[in-house]
Amino acid sequence: MPISAATGLAPRLAWLLRWPLPALLSWAGSWAVYLLLRPWQATLAMAGAVLLGLALALPHGPRWRRLMVAGGFPLSLLLSSPGLSLPGWGWLAALALLVLAYPRRAWQDAPLFPTPHAALQDLPARIALRPDALVLDAGCGVGDGLRALRRAYPAARIHGVEWSRPWAWLAALRCPWATVRRGDMWAEDWSGFALVYLFQRPESMPRAWAKACQEMHAGSILVSLDFAIPGVAPYAQLQAGSARRLWVYQLPARP
Ligand SMILES: C[S@@+](CC[C@H](N)C(=O)[O-])C[C@H]1O[C@@H](n2cnc3c(N)ncnc32)[C@H](O)[C@@H]1O
Repeated sequence: MPISAATGLAPRLAWLLRWPLPALLSWAGSWAVYLLLRPWQATLAMAGAVLLGLALALPHGPRWRRLMVAGGFPLSLLLSSPGLSLPGWGWLAALALLVLAYPRRAWQDAPLFPTPHAALQDLPARIALRPDALVLDAGCGVGDGLRALRRAYPAARIHGVEWSRPWAWLAALRCPWATVRRGDMWAEDWSGFALVYLFQRPESMPRAWAKACQEMHAGSILVSLDFAIPGVAPYAQLQAGSARRLWVYQLPARP
């Protein structure tokens, strides 16, 4: 069962499944196994810890989460090996960079994963927009989604909002034709946009749909790469490259 689906089973324990806690707990589990077994047999300890990481990674739906859960222990073991050990300030600098690039609020949604180059190429055939339509990439990262939108709708007025300061700065640099703001996509008003594009995480989708229904006009479009909105029938599903899917939703008329 995907880990996100398990939240319905034990509502009181659901907070344990809130990302990135499952990753931190999995890494701690792997380290506990490693430290317990190491005095006995170092190779076995390492194998046990890696296997536990792999087992705990499997229930996660998104591939990037499986990679993070499974890769955390081997990576931290490698970084803490005597040959590679960083000085104290090195760890501090790495942590500061991480916090700058991936600030606290962005943990609730997705970290940086760029939209693949051709992911939106089939979208214009299904969704026609007025040439000057307003389009938003909510959580625009370093601008790959903005570029894909521009390829799909070259005449549209493309906006991006991004919480991480360095990513927003980089996106503005890479996409000078777009209007890029540093800000919270949940605080942004989506009402003027004909199309809002999201590449976030499964848990963000119900909130995104609720916000879209409250703010966006009937007939406007919400597009999500990879993650469907649970319980909402899509207007269209498109293949976005070999392994990805594009979920297209049309906003209904408000009662
Ligand atoms: C998976 S990346 C997608 C980037 C870009 N849309 C693309 O497709 O290339 C998700 C991005 O959303 C940003 N993000 C997460 N939560 C956010 C929030 N509340 N407000 C604005 N940006 C957010 C993250 O920092 C990250 O850059």
